[in-house]
Amino acid sequence: MKNLCLIPVAAIALMLGACSTSQKQTAATDVPTLKDAFKDSFLIGAAVTPACTDGIDHAADSLVSLHFNSIVAENCMKSEKINPAEGVYDWKDADSFVDYGTRHGMKIIGHTLVWHSQLAPWFPVDSTGKYVTADVLKERLRNHITTVMTRYKGKIHGWDVVNEAILDDGTYRKTPFYDILGEEFIPFAFECAAAADPEAELYLNDYSMASPAKRETYIRIINDLRKRGIRIDGIGMQGHMGMDYPDFDEFEKSIVEYGKTGVGVMITEWDMSALPTVNTGANVADTAAYNKMLNPYPDGLPEDIDRKWNDRMGRMMEMFLRHSDVITRVTAWGVTDGDSWKNNWPVRGRTEYPLLFSRSNEPKPFLNTYLSK
Ligand code: G3I
Repeated sequence: MKNLCLIPVAAIALMLGACSTSQKQTAATDVPTLKDAFKDSFLIGAAVTPACTDGIDHAADSLVSLHFNSIVAENCMKSEKINPAEGVYDWKDADSFVDYGTRHGMKIIGHTLVWHSQLAPWFPVDSTGKYVTADVLKERLRNHITTVMTRYKGKIHGWDVVNEAILDDGTYRKTPFYDILGEEFIPFAFECAAAADPEAELYLNDYSMASPAKRETYIRIINDLRKRGIRIDGIGMQGHMGMDYPDFDEFEKSIVEYGKTGVGVMITEWDMSALPTVNTGANVADTAAYNKMLNPYPDGLPEDIDRKWNDRMGRMMEMFLRHSDVITRVTAWGVTDGDSWKNNWPVRGRTEYPLLFSRSNEPKPFLNTYLSK
């Protein structure tokens, strides 16, 4: 096969942009792609936005359709967006996301059914703003999960059923779901999800998964669900990383230990900050004020930092490949650096470099190893 890895992906993207869908598929077979490179190991995915799935962001659209065989919704399926008021659903962006994945024959991942953040404000309270009773919250959860999953039944490969339920110290996060239902909100959500779509895979998903205390709690939850006969198919290890975290050994230990439970392990939400670390989690509420010291590379990464970043990403990718017996999917949280949420979190207005493709749509150097095989 002709090695096209040195041809700028932007040029390939432009070439493909002018083709019909069937021509794209033909053309893509000549180009080294990530989905080909990892086809014997795991699915390779990206989080996408409506701009990508509506074809407005041509660069993202071209890269995603060429390189990825799985997509996840970055924002459009969160309750605040999809179910903004009781009984009111906004399907526009979610429909477009699912159509896009279906058109491209991708494994589509729904994100997320139960999450305290970007939670529709009406969800846990009554008209006076007080928490609803346990029975009312269960009814609302069941309605939400059933309605959303039923609409996409047979099209969505897997769902992040519960997102970010556990703190780094292994205790339950004190969210409205926990406050009202206690630990039972997790089994309840999984029961509703399994009933709504018996074919879709069902996942727990969280960040800071190298934390031993968090690992212990998730293993207990997975084992408990299974003991009770409640289906869970996978655990998503969000891969929000930086230049000095996570501890690689602990991260690898988590892959192995989660794998031993028998559920699939997924690296979800993979990105690696190249900037000074402000915090090591991914809790949306933990922000910090801008200052110039925290944004040292507005015009591009210095060579040594770029090399270190690529080295760390390469080591991580090798770790994922070492454990491809249990890892079923690796998903990047975005496509190109310019689109990443990390440009505005935890500090608004930084210039970040966390993703697999650069601002000019080139694959990062650590990927050349795989694209040239
Ligand atoms: O849609 C509105 C737009 O109408 C408005 O003009 C604009 C003004 O700021 O905001 C837009 O909403 C933003 C939304 O992203 C869509 O771009 C929100 O402010 C912004 O807070 C939101 O951030 C998302 C964040 O979750 C919020 O929870 C990020 O894009 C998204 O990448 C991030 O994803 C989460 C995962 O779901 C769970 N794990 C952690 C990860 C990172 O926080």
